[in-house]
Amino acid sequence: MAAKKNHPVFLLLRLLLLSIISMKVAMAEVVTPPLLPYKNPTLPVEARVNDLLSRMTLAEKIGQMTQIDRSVASPAVLRSQFIGSVLNGGGSNPAEDATPEMWADMIDGFQESAMDTRLGIPVIYGTDAVHGHNNVVGATVFPHNVGLGAARDKDLMRRIGIATALELRATGIPYTFAPCLAVCRDPRWGRCYESYSEDTEVVRSMAEIIIGLQGSPPSGHPRGYPFIAQGGNSVAACAKHFTGDGGTVRGINENNTIASYPELFHVHIKPYLDAVAMGVSTVMVSYSSWNGVKMHANPYLLTRVLKQEIGFQGFLISDWEGVDRITSPPGRDYKTSVLAAIIAGIDMIMVPYDYVRFIGDVTDLVAEGRIPMSRIDDAVSRILRVKFVAGLFEQPRANRTLLNQVGHKDHRELAREAVRKSLVLLKNGKNKPMLPLSRKAPRILVAGTHAHDVGYQCGGWTVSWQGGSGNTTSGTTILEGIKEAVSKRTEVVYEQRPNEAFFRNAKNFSYAIVVVGELPYAETDGDDPNLVLPLGGDKIIEDVCSRIRCLVILISGRPLVVEPYLDSIDALVAAWLPGSEAGPGIADVIFGKYDFQGKLPRTWFRRVDQLPMNVDDAHYDPLFPFGFGLRMKVRSRHPSPDGISFSSTAASSSSFFPSY
Ligand code: GLC
Repeated sequence: MAAKKNHPVFLLLRLLLLSIISMKVAMAEVVTPPLLPYKNPTLPVEARVNDLLSRMTLAEKIGQMTQIDRSVASPAVLRSQFIGSVLNGGGSNPAEDATPEMWADMIDGFQESAMDTRLGIPVIYGTDAVHGHNNVVGATVFPHNVGLGAARDKDLMRRIGIATALELRATGIPYTFAPCLAVCRDPRWGRCYESYSEDTEVVRSMAEIIIGLQGSPPSGHPRGYPFIAQGGNSVAACAKHFTGDGGTVRGINENNTIASYPELFHVHIKPYLDAVAMGVSTVMVSYSSWNGVKMHANPYLLTRVLKQEIGFQGFLISDWEGVDRITSPPGRDYKTSVLAAIIAGIDMIMVPYDYVRFIGDVTDLVAEGRIPMSRIDDAVSRILRVKFVAGLFEQPRANRTLLNQVGHKDHRELAREAVRKSLVLLKNGKNKPMLPLSRKAPRILVAGTHAHDVGYQCGGWTVSWQGGSGNTTSGTTILEGIKEAVSKRTEVVYEQRPNEAFFRNAKNFSYAIVVVGELPYAETDGDDPNLVLPLGGDKIIEDVCSRIRCLVILISGRPLVVEPYLDSIDALVAAWLPGSEAGPGIADVIFGKYDFQGKLPRTWFRRVDQLPMNVDDAHYDPLFPFGFGLRMKVRSRHPSPDGISFSSTAASSSSFFPSY
């Protein structure tokens, strides 16, 4: 036995075993390095901000102030320039019809690069989820803001925010450039549908969506300090565009808002009081000017009013090339514009392409002493504050367990509810109510350019920047909603543009539903001095309504000229831009399962030469006034099974309101 123990092989094995044990002991004694304060989630946010700021070089600080488009955000750029934020401009999607997984892969890829830097600061990725996660095919597309303003339902806004945040986080996105708090005072503005109302108080009320997106700050939360609920289901919001974006001359996009300061404050600034009180994380600056001074170069409004007086402590972001557009032509003397914008109080610049020029100019301006380091540190502190509050250091990547939230049926049901509540009944019959429509009519005609087109019913900012036509995303068209709602014995005939020949062969319709409206558009492309019904919608109305009792459903981002053919129409509904669930939501109401509850969020003018015309004007002569909206029901002694019965007169008609 002793011989074996002295055998060389045994001795070698024993030596090996001993060395393994001693290595393990050595390793166990190595103390894991202490967590750097900024990486310690148990420390207060401000302690983490100050610690991280103290470690940053100027290049790393300027990188944090730089937001670039995803199309130029290569791993090398993210690492070498210490880029703080990436976005996708409208339509800049990772691929044609990219899946939610592809979005998540893209953003996770950006995070890999960003966190592979000396300090490992995650990027904050932003997108325009302005009516649901609208860039992503298959996501729930809610009604655009003008329709939600007609619904005037704060609780609905909060629930839409919650649903939108979940669909965003499912794709790894912690930040949306929403809500738009514009108070649109002239419907000739191409972005009027992004505004909840012409009335400031309605806009203030709809800002509740911020609570849904970010979560609700606990009592005692410091006023103006960004709040985002922990847990990874909430996102950073962005109140935009500060300020006066909806008040420009003749509604010309990015133009000049002429107003006294009291008027600017009471009409356009007040919604930001609510947003800041709710802990909104970011505010985006308007392209427009106030009395000739560009908002992007206005230190009084950006710093003195928004940051100091109102107390906003999140970060202020420029609009897309907003710095370039300080001058005309854009980009002339860019370095001077960069100086003006940063000194005015802008913290992050949506460059979004020429980051080399931007970073170079800021670096020079600091070296020349024209931008003080205190301004850089204030900007970077605000950016880091939002990143810590958003939990990005702890949860930088997509939570893939949420992927089934994208387009979830519960969210579609919520969108259907939003559609129902957004519809405004403007006329209901010539001498007796036309609505609710019979589900059992033997034969009905559905006509119009917008009856069977998901792209049209969603409008702009849907998958692409300007929106499109056809099956651009998943949704249910109005025709499909009608077919689903009527009895199996009802014959539904669909003809987009019924002509003489059609009517010669097709007869005996109980009624017709005509769905017409505007083509999708976004921003300046939507500026329109005439506001007439496009695509020959007026001819379709005349051709159908002169022959058959007709309900006209208008799909538009704003009031349009309708007075010339109002007499030929039996019933008229404003459906705005109802989104992916337009079909079921509209069918729910026109067939009487639910009553109308929408009220005009905007004045409906008679002629465009009356514009701008708003409810608080001294001289006010609308076709339908702000707040107008008919109902189909009155409470009766003999309610129908679902508790409502339908009146022979419009319940809310009064001497002021025209009794259509
Ligand atoms: C656009 C819009 C702004 C949007 C931004 C990013 O030009 O003005 O509302 O959030 O660029 O797409």
